[in-house]
Amino acid sequence: MSTILKGGTLVTETDAFQADLVMDRGTIAAVGRNFQPRKGTEVVDARGMYVMPGGIDAHVHFQLPFCGTVSSDDFLNGTKAAACGGVTTVIDYAIQTKGRPVMEAVEKRRAEADGRVCVDYALHAGITDWKDGSPRDLRRLVAYGIPTVKMFMIYRKEGWMADDYMLFSALEETARCGAMIELHAESVSLLDGLVARYHRNWKRLGARGHALSRPAFAEEEAVRRAIMWAGATGGRVYIVHMSAGASADAVREAQERGVRVYAETCPQYLLLDDSVFRKRNGHLYATCPQIKSKADAERLWRGVTNGEVSLIATDTCTFTTRQKAMWGGDFTKIPYGMPGVETMVPLMHTFGVGAGRFSVNRLVQLVSANPARLHGLYPQKGTLAVGADADVVVFDPRRKHVISPRRLQTNCDWSPYDGWRLTGWPALVFSRGRLAARNGKFVGEEGWGRFVRREPWGGIEGRIQQ
Ligand code: URP
Ligand code: ZN
Ligand code: ZN
Repeated sequence: MSTILKGGTLVTETDAFQADLVMDRGTIAAVGRNFQPRKGTEVVDARGMYVMPGGIDAHVHFQLPFCGTVSSDDFLNGTKAAACGGVTTVIDYAIQTKGRPVMEAVEKRRAEADGRVCVDYALHAGITDWKDGSPRDLRRLVAYGIPTVKMFMIYRKEGWMADDYMLFSALEETARCGAMIELHAESVSLLDGLVARYHRNWKRLGARGHALSRPAFAEEEAVRRAIMWAGATGGRVYIVHMSAGASADAVREAQERGVRVYAETCPQYLLLDDSVFRKRNGHLYATCPQIKSKADAERLWRGVTNGEVSLIATDTCTFTTRQKAMWGGDFTKIPYGMPGVETMVPLMHTFGVGAGRFSVNRLVQLVSANPARLHGLYPQKGTLAVGADADVVVFDPRRKHVISPRRLQTNCDWSPYDGWRLTGWPALVFSRGRLAARNGKFVGEEGWGRFVRREPWGGIEGRIQQ
């Protein structure tokens, strides 16, 4: 399988230049000019297009049992949706059942995904227990190719919550073994108390109860506490789905002091604001953490351009209108989450590059190179360098596209961006050299994707491009 993409604008983190790119047997074989195609080589005219490394969504939850139901995009359809949106690698979670070995969760998740995924995938582990053997478990995960572990400062009743000592101990170990903690940072007792308080008036409040009970400072406090433990231990902490402006302030201050703290945010925290909860269907927008104010979104955009936010991911956790209807008017019963993997790259192109907030090079950094670096995938993925996997997007920067759930691959029957007008959409998406999607339609092979073992942190510190 050999393909030449001819005459496109190759976009890297640092450069944009016209050239041909040759993909051969799954990797990028050459970059240059005037290659003569061998017999059987397919030649694609990429003039007028960006040729970029495939997107990497470091935060998805396919077929996640959560909030009394299961997220509706499974590994098969979720990875098709990823391909359609220009994402060629996803990282999902294998969350330990309390009292059971964490490797059991990893093996279960692999059994669900292997042979079904349509683009490459990796796993974060989720550690919900911390016992004497846990440092050994963490080292075993690193050796297996899972150097990132999610911990949750909330979700007490789900049995996922880590207390301060667990987090502190895990961070100590990350400093030794090259792992990193991916942290859901919210203040549990404050949230539980506020949820109980507002729940007394759930009938009157509707979806607004969700927003009222989860203020921005509930996240900021937890982020600051986690930063304290990371500073004290020398461990690495990565704040997932950062939603509050004040959290970005905390991350920036800590980075300036040399604390190893990194942050991702998601399109929903940049593009939406808490006025959505006043809509007739406001409950659809409930996520955890919840969408904050316009001022928070503006501060997060600054973080994305200044650099304290290292990357964009989506926290895809898709629930249909039918699943969301389980709430019955009670904001504490809404399944939390929304679709996202399929629209991340085009949304960030329109509202980041198109709106003049950042360059197309920074787009590549935010959705591809930095997710790869921070998660031990670089330079196998996240770059157009010769030898890298041929995960490549031919992106049409001028194509007009109106978002409609009917035109998307996701199983979700609604979109937070329904009717939004975008400029720029992936025309062709290649996964290890094989065409996976054309003009937003999946044309790849079911089960083509592979599990990717990732490298531990080492030597790349200080090289994260802010
Ligand atoms: O609303 C969300 N984010 N659902 C998924 C679980 C999580 O905390 O990431
Ligand atoms: Zn979370
Ligand atoms: Zn999540």
